[in-house]
Amino acid sequence: MNEKLNQIAIDGFFLPRQSSSFAHEIDAGWNFVTVLSIVFFVLVVGAMFTFMWKYRRTPANPQATSTLAHHFGLEAVWTVIPTALCGVLFIMGWKGYLAAAVAPSDAIEIQVTAQKWAWSFAYPNGVISNELRVPKDKSVKLILSSKDVIHSVYLPEFRVKQDAVPGTYTTMWFRATEIVNTVLQCTEYCGQSHSNMLSNVFVMELDRWNAWLEKAAAADTSMKPEQLGEQLYTRFACLTCHSTDGSPRVGPTFKGLFGKMEACNTGAVKVDEAYLRESILNPTAKVVTGFQPVMPPFQGQLKDREIDALIAYIKTLK
Ligand code: CUA
Repeated sequence: MNEKLNQIAIDGFFLPRQSSSFAHEIDAGWNFVTVLSIVFFVLVVGAMFTFMWKYRRTPANPQATSTLAHHFGLEAVWTVIPTALCGVLFIMGWKGYLAAAVAPSDAIEIQVTAQKWAWSFAYPNGVISNELRVPKDKSVKLILSSKDVIHSVYLPEFRVKQDAVPGTYTTMWFRATEIVNTVLQCTEYCGQSHSNMLSNVFVMELDRWNAWLEKAAAADTSMKPEQLGEQLYTRFACLTCHSTDGSPRVGPTFKGLFGKMEACNTGAVKVDEAYLRESILNPTAKVVTGFQPVMPPFQGQLKDREIDALIAYIKTLK
């Protein structure tokens, strides 16, 4: 990746920083299960070793102890206590599940689109970004979909996770409680660049978030084509597969690409405006030799001005 990525902050011994409204609740359940497991591990294994030692065979006690056939009191205790504990765990889990499953009706809606191997976020005013920016102390509902395979949104600091599935919509929500920079990661293996399918996440004060949205909406129309193209290169995550420094990634580098002759599956091609446009909209038409036809088509996702801007940007990468 070219851009600098945020980090997930670890707080304490086991878990990431708690940055959302239900992080405490989720962690309480997790801690409860962990402590319970340790207690029962010690009890069960401790009893096992105690009895092994106590009833071991010695010269004074050469006979194996006869098996206890039945003990109602003991059986009642080991049935009732675990059943009660399971009940407590179920109630804790159910409450947490409901809280995470149903978004408040006033939540800000952000459309999240997953594709190999990038995320894009569409905000209520039409701005599309490859970063997730959310206001602090506001409920945010993410509506997820995928263009190709199953991906999954994972926000460890917010303790939320949801699959993005092609052909349908799934939702998730959270309310960020801290001003943090963190990262969103894909947590469903989705192919070659799965591990690079990360996005920066910024939690901002509400007024700064609003200002950012307005600025982002205005920027597209006032920028020079190559500047806009550079932004789109990041926003549409071209950078996941195409470097600008000459190194090949999943796809050919953009450095020195324009004007070059490329060997393709359909024969040699000169990289000009028409070829770049076709390769953006319908990438499998002419695939450069040595690369897999894995790029998703951008037909219908980019305006003509944006395609021109990307081409203008590629031309600057000599
Ligand atoms: Cu997308 Cu893994």
